[in-house]
Amino acid sequence: VPEATSGVLGELRGKARARLEPAHWDFFEGGAGRETALAENVRAFGRLALLPRVLRGAGEPDTAVELPGARASTPVLIAPTAFHRLAHHEGERATARAAAAAGTVLITSMASTTAVADVVAAAREVRADAAVWFQLYLQPRADVTEALVRRAEEAGCTALVVTADSPVFGRRARDDRNGFHDLPPGMAAENMRGLPGAPPDAPLDIAMSPALSWDHLRGLRERTELPILVKGVLHPDDARHAIGEGAAGLIVSNHGGRQLDAAPATVEALPRITEAVAGRIPVLLDGGIRSGADVVTALALGAAAVGVGRPVLWGLAAEGEAGVARVLAELTGQTAHVLALCGARDCADLNRDQVVLRGARGV
Ligand code: FNR
Repeated sequence: VPEATSGVLGELRGKARARLEPAHWDFFEGGAGRETALAENVRAFGRLALLPRVLRGAGEPDTAVELPGARASTPVLIAPTAFHRLAHHEGERATARAAAAAGTVLITSMASTTAVADVVAAAREVRADAAVWFQLYLQPRADVTEALVRRAEEAGCTALVVTADSPVFGRRARDDRNGFHDLPPGMAAENMRGLPGAPPDAPLDIAMSPALSWDHLRGLRERTELPILVKGVLHPDDARHAIGEGAAGLIVSNHGGRQLDAAPATVEALPRITEAVAGRIPVLLDGGIRSGADVVTALALGAAAVGVGRPVLWGLAAEGEAGVARVLAELTGQTAHVLALCGARDCADLNRDQVVLRGARGV
């Protein structure tokens, strides 16, 4: 996998790798199948170049973005990732504090090792208006989904992110090889405790089901006032369909290459999605974002913001809250710098024609 080896992200990645148990490192770092989608997410950004605009008098760029249930001071959001206590003993609380301090959105995973109420409380201790979105896998039992949504609402989450790319679990060779399928003793998927059908002293397993459909999404919409973003959309027709179902936003994602290994790089799928959506709702992207240039490339192709998964886990594993803060500061600082170099006054002041293929004729 062509991952960062230099700079702040490379340093944190190296430190995380040295600190983590190999099976936990592999869980965070790995992907499905032959890890083609995982590698391509990163590589595809390397195939793209940015055409700067000059002498536009843009001034200092403003990196703030307006999103459903959040105003963020940076277009770099934290993508939902499972099990932060495997990376650091403070787990999701540390991530939440760093996100709040940076003024960005934490999309907290349903598979977190800290209950959502405690995640939001940690963020709000730092900043009273911190935005935390709750990532949800729709459950085959409607009462389980409903109980999870009530918890997210009561915790103070300001949007739901429904992950739609996981009708079945991805097959991850590294986890199979390492026999990594369960959390170590003392850690659990805390959001899954005390749900309908759960055993008294253990959390319910997160279910994935290929029987889930747009009907389930509609059912969810009828039961919550929170804006719903659909994560894992790659086909333009699904983007249109999601709008028809009232989605407040989309996240173009292949789950960091952890589900369908044959999926395209997300930045390659993005233009057709933004075209289909035509500005009706915000489109976000995650997968392979490792620099400010990657962020600006996605913005130029029509993304409203991006999510980062693994780099946040590197920061968390390496240095806890301070490491996550360093990742966010580095990516946001680079983004502001690249915006300035491209003559952009803010995250929306970019055009698709500024992204070109490297090596192509006619550039
Ligand atoms: C994820 N991702 C993920 N997505 C989701 O909707 N719910 C989840 O619980 C998880 N868990 C998870 C764990 C780990 C270890 C990783 C690496 C990823 C996917 C995540 O939200 C995002 O789509 C990718 O991580 C983005 O790609 P990068 O930034 O890691 O390249």
